[in-house]
Amino acid sequence: MKKTVLVSGGAGFIGSHVTVELIEAGYDVIVADNMSNCDRTCFEGVKKITGREDLPFHLVDFCDAAAAEKLFSENKIDAVIHFAAFKAVGESVDKPLMYYRNNLDSFMNVIEAAQKNGCTNILFSSSATVYGEPDVVPVTEQTPRKDATSPYGNTKKMCEDILQDCVKASGGSLKGILLRYFNPIGAHPSALIGELPRGIPNNLVPFITQTAIGKRECLSIFGNDYPTEDGTCKRDYIDIVDLARAHVCAVARMLDGKMEQGCEIYNIGTGRPVSVLELVNAFEKVNGLKLNYRFAPRRPGDVVAIWADPSLANEKLGWKATRSVEDTLKSAWEWEKHIAGR
Ligand code: WQD
Repeated sequence: MKKTVLVSGGAGFIGSHVTVELIEAGYDVIVADNMSNCDRTCFEGVKKITGREDLPFHLVDFCDAAAAEKLFSENKIDAVIHFAAFKAVGESVDKPLMYYRNNLDSFMNVIEAAQKNGCTNILFSSSATVYGEPDVVPVTEQTPRKDATSPYGNTKKMCEDILQDCVKASGGSLKGILLRYFNPIGAHPSALIGELPRGIPNNLVPFITQTAIGKRECLSIFGNDYPTEDGTCKRDYIDIVDLARAHVCAVARMLDGKMEQGCEIYNIGTGRPVSVLELVNAFEKVNGLKLNYRFAPRRPGDVVAIWADPSLANEKLGWKATRSVEDTLKSAWEWEKHIAGR
């Protein structure tokens, strides 16, 4: 009997890639999204890649408890992966209530509706942002979480706590997995789905590809006086398809009854630190172009260096990041060209 996975926020960047991988691994998927931060591009792309023209889609705002309840009561859902959330760090500083309201309400409604309707497997999309500026790198899952530097980061921490508390209170019936993503980049090799930032991109790779295509004049590299080899910040950039596959492994672990704890936490990263300058150079080299960039002042709130120790995910999930940063940067460029040509 095929298992059904609900992907909340499934029309977005990460959700759409996860949907593809779940379908390709043999799961039935229900996509739900309120489309507040995306259009239908990625959902249509998912249907094309998978050949699933009948892929179920529900226009649902999970802040609406009744709508969440309706979705769970009318469908047999074995596991839910919760992505539906706002994600712009800067915006969250200006509009904290909007972030707390949306990101917390929607997740609590999902947990409540899931539990009420017998769906006992919940996977939450968390972030390495919960580690703040770590004292030691790479970070393991035991590395202490630090105070969040933005309401966005705080919602990730709070949602982690909410799920852990609910799992504890369930007396063993509810299972949770928290995946802490490092920096997801790139696009599906088909170039039919990818990141579609609205307005000026906050994140590095969309800014790079938009500069390369001429949509932005110049990339500002925020800070070249950090205490790193080349003075720019270091991150763990993880290919979006690799990241998506980690969800398939995590869902399988839950549904196959392999979990060793009620709530498990995994770092989803490569374990490979890359500086901003190294990433820019790799992008230029692999795509055979020159990028217009300049050094600019540090961006407030940036951490100097963070990368994952992914060995727990490697061991327990049987998952490993496989794509090179070069291949990923190629896919990001193919996607930018694809959307420019639409
Ligand atoms: C990476 C590096 C910048 C843009 C954020 C969130 C995190 C997660 C992913 C989001 C940094 C530098 C960037 C630019 C630059 N969640 N940079 N010029 O800050 O590591 O993580 O996004 O949904 O929670 O905090 O990612 O891509 O913004 O930045 O020099 O125009 O690139 O300073 O060193 P970050 P990023």
